[in-house]
Amino acid sequence: MIDQWSAQVCEECGTRILESDSRGDCPACGGLLEIVHEIVSDPSSLKEVFADRRSHVTGVERSGVWRYRELVLPTAADVDVVSHPEGNTPLMQREKLSEWTGVDGLWIKHEGHNPTGSFKDRGMTVAITQARRTGATAVACASTGNTSASLAAYAAHAGIPALVFVPAGRVALGKIAQTIAYGARTLVVRGNFDTCLELAVQARDTLGIQLLNSVNPFRLEGQKTIVFELLEQLDWAPPDWIALPAGNLGNTAAFGKALREACSLGLISRVPRIAAIQAAGAAPFARSFAGGFAERLRVEPETIATAIRIGAPASWNRAVRSIRETNGIVDSVTDAEILEAKAVIDASGLGCEPASAASLAGVAKLRRAGTIRKSESVVAVLTGHLLKDPGAVVSYHQDTEPRPEHANRPIEIDATLADIERVLRSMSS
Ligand code: F0G
Repeated sequence: MIDQWSAQVCEECGTRILESDSRGDCPACGGLLEIVHEIVSDPSSLKEVFADRRSHVTGVERSGVWRYRELVLPTAADVDVVSHPEGNTPLMQREKLSEWTGVDGLWIKHEGHNPTGSFKDRGMTVAITQARRTGATAVACASTGNTSASLAAYAAHAGIPALVFVPAGRVALGKIAQTIAYGARTLVVRGNFDTCLELAVQARDTLGIQLLNSVNPFRLEGQKTIVFELLEQLDWAPPDWIALPAGNLGNTAAFGKALREACSLGLISRVPRIAAIQAAGAAPFARSFAGGFAERLRVEPETIATAIRIGAPASWNRAVRSIRETNGIVDSVTDAEILEAKAVIDASGLGCEPASAASLAGVAKLRRAGTIRKSESVVAVLTGHLLKDPGAVVSYHQDTEPRPEHANRPIEIDATLADIERVLRSMSS
């Protein structure tokens, strides 16, 4: 029997508020909130319950998020849950990627296999469920594109009006297409993501809209399941490292929380090291890490990986905690490194969007530096689907001069067998 309660606690001053409070920040100091769960169960019962649900074909527990509901939102009843379902993403190995990174025990956790094509769906199913439970009349987010696509889809499913704030001219085609198609009211803001988030927070505080960015603690509860699921897929034998791309730092915070909880519940006995990888042009967290996190930095962000084009990450303090508690590291990779890693991931048949490739580019860099050893096991998380950003693919393969190493240029031919033969010959040479 699993017996539980949950509450929200301010990460800064410790003020405790009800789980059902929907204001979104600490009433005493404005700090970020964290969900705490009281879980009374032994690890083997939990593992059995999670495993048993894998065979479900109907019901909310077939979701790769709600399968772990005791650790996510235990007070939600089945009828409360708004789920596609989501999660249950594959953990894969590819020889080409092991060779390219130089890490034999490399695993890829592909979150692009979620219903809207990114990991955001895991957090969104929980945040929308909670928004509906607490009577939200409208939901909103600021986004570089994936959160908005996910919010739009889940709000449509829940029947709640959605408003999104996106930076003008900086959202990849696939994501803006999804957001519009799923029916969110889309506000294109003249400014970057950081401007959009500041505006969205003001809208929450003054207009009574529920904000479903990762500053919303319920989002993190869902995103923790990436870690629970990969640990379960490895039969609860933790890898040495988990690498992920880092932008607004919600996921870095969620991963640390998941590992802390998995460890304190006895689901694992050793904590993997987190490697959070930023784009070099948007790397305030990596720069701060290099200085022992002495300063909270803000930069003017610029990178081809628009998903992580963020200069003032919101989940800063909780991500610092994740890195410290896991003996983790933060590094950055250049746009050229991201594009090369992406081309290799794409050509392996897996594919991902540019920001996702930062994780593998980071693994390769850390391996070259000797920080990650050849014999260590690494799970690299790919956060979004290749089709999220078709523009980046066409530009790399078709338009970039000089021709990049991995470019696969389409070839225009006359409608003749001779031309096909010529191409075939060049392929085998
Ligand atoms: N990868 C992808 C594909 C993303 O969309 C994001 C964030 C990240 C990585 C970074 O995760 O912010 O938790 O550190 N996208 C947000 C959005 C900002 O609006 O879709 P993070």
